[in-house]
Amino acid sequence: MTQVRTARVIGLGSYLPERILTNADLEKMVDTSDEWITTRTGIKERRISADNEASSDLAANASKQALIDAGIKADQIELIIIATVTPDMQFPSTACLVREKIGAENAAAFDLGAACAGYGYALVTAQQFIASGTYDVVLVIGVEKLSSVTDWRDRNTCVLLGDGAGAAILAPSDSGNGIMASYLNADGSMAELLKVPAGGSRRPCSCQTIEDRQHYLKMKGNELFRPAVRMMVDAAEKVLKKCGLTTRDVDCLIPHQANIRIIKAVAQRLNIPIEKVYINIEKYGNMSSASTAIGFHEAVKFGKIKKDSIVVVVGFGSGLTSSACVIKW
Ligand code: UT7
Repeated sequence: MTQVRTARVIGLGSYLPERILTNADLEKMVDTSDEWITTRTGIKERRISADNEASSDLAANASKQALIDAGIKADQIELIIIATVTPDMQFPSTACLVREKIGAENAAAFDLGAACAGYGYALVTAQQFIASGTYDVVLVIGVEKLSSVTDWRDRNTCVLLGDGAGAAILAPSDSGNGIMASYLNADGSMAELLKVPAGGSRRPCSCQTIEDRQHYLKMKGNELFRPAVRMMVDAAEKVLKKCGLTTRDVDCLIPHQANIRIIKAVAQRLNIPIEKVYINIEKYGNMSSASTAIGFHEAVKFGKIKKDSIVVVVGFGSGLTSSACVIKW
């Protein structure tokens, strides 16, 4: 039997736009309060891109950092996979734009749509190309400019979202450490709960769709809460079981950052102490695919992940999708 190769992360980077939008700022924009946002979501502030900054700009900045961290040049990258629901345009893919921006002149490139679970989906996709021997160096990015689909009149959603990018470079492992197991899932029966209704082939852009504010993100947050907890717990348990581990073996859990109450409920059900859970929602809000991507980079940067640490990255999002990876660092 052919031996499959283990993929490991050799470099990480992230980028957050400079502009900070605080809960106090939002109090002036919609009928909300710092108290409501803090207690119901855990968010204190979020980053908002400049008008001339698109997802490819955020992604390119994060990628340049990951290249430095990995100690390699852009022309060594063979594939770029970008997880995003906020591409610069419908096409070309944002991955092609990033290829150009960073000078990855030997790379194939494509975008992947799995919403907030997208970073995990992209890591697993990269892993497959490495395991099969197709590529040796793959750049994975989770990036969102959610402010571009935020309805700033809708208090139900505008207080939750933020912009950012996280990048990881994967290569074959020489030590055996790396992605140990993965789990992906999707349930289209609840697709209506979180979407941008217009601007696609179902409801192309028209004066009417714009007037109806259908190009903005719509979410039934209350109905998503329980599936979010259930699907992340399920994904984490299944992926750990695949590699013969239990939640007691986990040194760092990096969950999608949709709501502090969801994160705490997931940790509690998995019986993982909250100190082992990486949380940055208070600074950045929900950045969809970028949340776990940035969380992973920060957890390494801030020493929460050390050599041989067992890390679980778990995500959940529109679709509904869920993803989980166990990584031995
Ligand atoms: O990224 C992946 C997918 N996202 C998620 O999975 C998000 C999951 N859902 C959530 O995180 C929470 O459901 C939310 C944070 C979205 C909402 O929290 P909640 O505790 O479920 O609140 P709710 O929707 O049940 O609303 C409670 C009340 C409502 O008022 P009434 O009807 O009780 O009078 C809302 O109108 O809170 C009101 N409300 C607000 N009040 C002040 C909603 N948004 C706001 C706001 N400020 N920004």
